[in-house]
Amino acid sequence: MLTILTDPNPNLRQVAKPVEPAEILKLGFQKFLDEMLETMADKGVGLAGPQVGVSKRVIIVQTKSGPEAFINPKIFSTSLLRSDGEEGCLSVPGVWGIVKRFKKVKVKALNRKGEKVVIKASGLESVIFQHEIDHLDGVLFIDKVERLLKIEKM
Ligand code: CO
Repeated sequence: MLTILTDPNPNLRQVAKPVEPAEILKLGFQKFLDEMLETMADKGVGLAGPQVGVSKRVIIVQTKSGPEAFINPKIFSTSLLRSDGEEGCLSVPGVWGIVKRFKKVKVKALNRKGEKVVIKASGLESVIFQHEIDHLDGVLFIDKVERLLKIEKM
């Protein structure tokens, strides 16, 4: 299980580096993806490299068909409409708030086999992609929150 860094750890504020495609199939990297999947499965619906101290553009998203790894993900198209939803983050424990996100996004990425994939995400899946890709740019949901709902002492 990987340790999840929490705000205000400076690693969470770095812009993560793209993964070299040649690295994806290497055993060490595949193992890292498995560890990320395992860590997320236990705790949430999404996880990004910087949250476990790895400044690489890798995210895990709980998709409609299950948890999946996406490498070098990029949003290339969004809906015009945005909507408010409740979010929390493993790196900001005990805090929930309302964040405005695009209703739909299209994402280009590489999967764990190094193949190009295009994902059309809507609903919760769309929110997770936007939240996790923000982590790769050093952005936390509390930077965008419109209204805090709840703060619990952890
Ligand atoms: Co998060």
